[in-house]
Amino acid sequence: MKKNQKFFRNCLKELKPYDPHQVPYKIKLNANENPYGLPGEIIEEILRKAKKLEYSRYPDANSEKLSELISSFWGLTRDNIIIGNGSDELIDYLIKAFSEKGRRAITTAPSFAMYKIYSIVNNTNFVEIPLDQNNFSLNEDGILEEAKKEDSSLVFIAYPNAPTGNYFAKDKIIKIIEESGCLVVVDEAYYEFGGKTFAPLISRYNNLAILRTFSKAYSLAGLRVGYLLSNPEIINEVKKVKSPFNVNIFSQLAAQIVYENKEILKGSIKKIIEERERLINRINKILFFKAHPSQTNFVLVEVGSKENADLVYNSLLEQGILVQTVSDPVFSSSRYFLRITVGSKEENDILLKELENISKNLSFTPL
Ligand SMILES: Cc1ncc(COP(=O)(O)O)c(C=O)c1O
Repeated sequence: MKKNQKFFRNCLKELKPYDPHQVPYKIKLNANENPYGLPGEIIEEILRKAKKLEYSRYPDANSEKLSELISSFWGLTRDNIIIGNGSDELIDYLIKAFSEKGRRAITTAPSFAMYKIYSIVNNTNFVEIPLDQNNFSLNEDGILEEAKKEDSSLVFIAYPNAPTGNYFAKDKIIKIIEESGCLVVVDEAYYEFGGKTFAPLISRYNNLAILRTFSKAYSLAGLRVGYLLSNPEIINEVKKVKSPFNVNIFSQLAAQIVYENKEILKGSIKKIIEERERLINRINKILFFKAHPSQTNFVLVEVGSKENADLVYNSLLEQGILVQTVSDPVFSSSRYFLRITVGSKEENDILLKELENISKNLSFTPL
């Protein structure tokens, strides 16, 4: 098929369809999901109430009950929240609402891949400011230099960052909020594993938005629910670009029940945090691997060269363990990483055994 026909978009020419890495596996540690899933009692409640839903009707366009539940928990109102099909959809909406051709969005390198993909899709120039290569700290002055330009409108900051797993200093982010003149989106997808949030600052700043998801701690990745907290003007702009009935009735119901029962999920979150620390300690005892500190439900493991990364990835996959390779041009060619989701204790034990075997049987250039 020829792509020089007038109906193709120039900005999509270089973009490849998203590759979800769907390969057969026994243990899935590549997408930062919750390995424990929802407790049976919550699933039963969802299914019981789902019988009474009116599937022939459109869903509540603004997910009112869920919006009320979450916003009131944060001391906010329904005008402060919008629900999306995962936070992915909300990232797209934010760029649609606050950008256009000729405008610029800014984030860190590395960071969450979808900021770039949706910027390209929405014809927005995209700038990545490298993190400090030693401790992954934020270069706030680099971000501000770009953000202060007239045509910059959005700054995305993942807090904690993905895939590095660390929090950036709060005062650096505040400086960006106060001085950039941009809408600053603080993406708190992993909030429940680290506990720090910018949510209380929404009433103080009119250019701050917080992104959250039900896909990680709340075990609901399959139903695609996320939300955005901000002031009413920002939320109203995002509603202008939203599909009218974006979140389906089943997802709205399930998210509501999960949020009402979030205390029950604390046990699995605590286990994940404990397992995370155990994984980091154990991986750091294995020659040639370096696990970086993490405030999330994944661990960034440095493995050296690209050859090492491919070897470890493929050897794990041969044993049915699926992890995620991380390569970012921002790192030198001797720095390759694997991003490994914290699994259940049993899964982590199998992973650790395999990593130990791989390190024994292969010859690495030591880090
Ligand atoms: C930092 C960050 N933000 C947002 C998301 C998207 O989450 P979802 O679209 O499932 O809500 C992810 C998923 O991995 C993420 O790592």
